[in-house]
Amino acid sequence: MRLYFVRHGIAEDLATSDFARELTKRGARRVAASAKVMARLSLQPSRIWSSPRLRARQTAEIIAEALELDVTLTDTVNFGFDRAGLRALTRHASEDDELMFVGHNPDMSLLVSELTGVDVSMKKGGLARIDTIGKTVEQGELVWLIAPKVFDALAEAAQPGAEPASCQPGTPAQKMPSTSQPVHRLIAGRWSPVGFDPERPIKRETLLSILEAARWSASSANLQPWRFIVAPRDNREEFDKVLSVLKEGNVTWARHAAVLMLAVAHRYPKPDFYHRHASHDLGLAVSQMVMQALDCNIYAHQMAGIFPDKAREVYAIPDEFEPLTAIALGYRAAGLDHLDERQRGREAAPRQRNELRDIVFTGSWAQAADFLGEDRK
Ligand SMILES: Cc1cc2nc3c(=O)[nH]c(=O)nc-3n(C[C@H](O)[C@H](O)[C@H](O)COP(=O)(O)O)c2cc1C
Repeated sequence: MRLYFVRHGIAEDLATSDFARELTKRGARRVAASAKVMARLSLQPSRIWSSPRLRARQTAEIIAEALELDVTLTDTVNFGFDRAGLRALTRHASEDDELMFVGHNPDMSLLVSELTGVDVSMKKGGLARIDTIGKTVEQGELVWLIAPKVFDALAEAAQPGAEPASCQPGTPAQKMPSTSQPVHRLIAGRWSPVGFDPERPIKRETLLSILEAARWSASSANLQPWRFIVAPRDNREEFDKVLSVLKEGNVTWARHAAVLMLAVAHRYPKPDFYHRHASHDLGLAVSQMVMQALDCNIYAHQMAGIFPDKAREVYAIPDEFEPLTAIALGYRAAGLDHLDERQRGREAAPRQRNELRDIVFTGSWAQAADFLGEDRK
């Protein structure tokens, strides 16, 4: 289990009661900056428990907003939070769960110290990550102890404007293949899940960035032969319309996606000009879209399994265009209960690829290139 312990941010000294002490403006700003860093670090707790005291609750809510989660208030994380409380809150959790607790000192520091055997003093707004050892929550390894100053430095180091405001960048972790050579983490981490989270929409700004990424793709003669028919899930009528042109095998899982789209190629930019590279360019644009999405922890699953003629009819697509594929976009679901057994098997299956020597030639067909070295064999 991965446990995150957060001490509330800087709060005002006085209020009508200790319970009502709010975060100061600076405290709230700092927590908000830290929360963005947490999102960058791919923190994905399934639950955030908070002490109901206002300063802890506000801290938890700011973090929850950045991680797109809800907060559960509980007195267990209030003053006196201890191992018994932790045991109680985690009794239904599984070994793979990530959970977060937002509370107070001295309990947070004491608890983290007790669990890890390391003498820890948590600053206001600080975060400790403990990975439990074995089946018990009573013992764990202190993986991170991030002081607010470190959060400040990490927040400053993040380039502003490099990603959409609503994006939660992260490093894909599941199904990382063992590549024969190092490749970019987004390339290694991309795969085609069927386990989309039906409850989690993609924010408009993020979706626009994903589409913008496609727009800036290279294309033969800059003909830009890509068109996309896009249906976010909350537009039920349009979403169902895309579903109606998918083959049944794809509908079973694609219906859980946050966004569905059809990718259409401009086949005849002029009446007598068949654009041979339209599919190539459309694929390139989709690839950029897929990577942009994954940088925000959003996965894509492309589908050839569509009914092109039906798509043409449903959307009145002119003859000069050809519907080629559909794309499902969405966040991965934390649990896979909504999938059938076969789909769950698919999620767990290792990813397979041909060897470099089978695809990279020099000199003549099927002659593996010399520069492959050891990889030639
Ligand atoms: C153009 C294209 C069409 C695809 N069509 C389907 C499809 O109709 N149904 C499906 O389940 N997967 C489909 N896939 C997903 C592939 O099966 C998947 O990309 C491939 O098995 C490699 O797995 P990975 O993407 O997880 O690495 C398609 C992928 C592409 C690029």
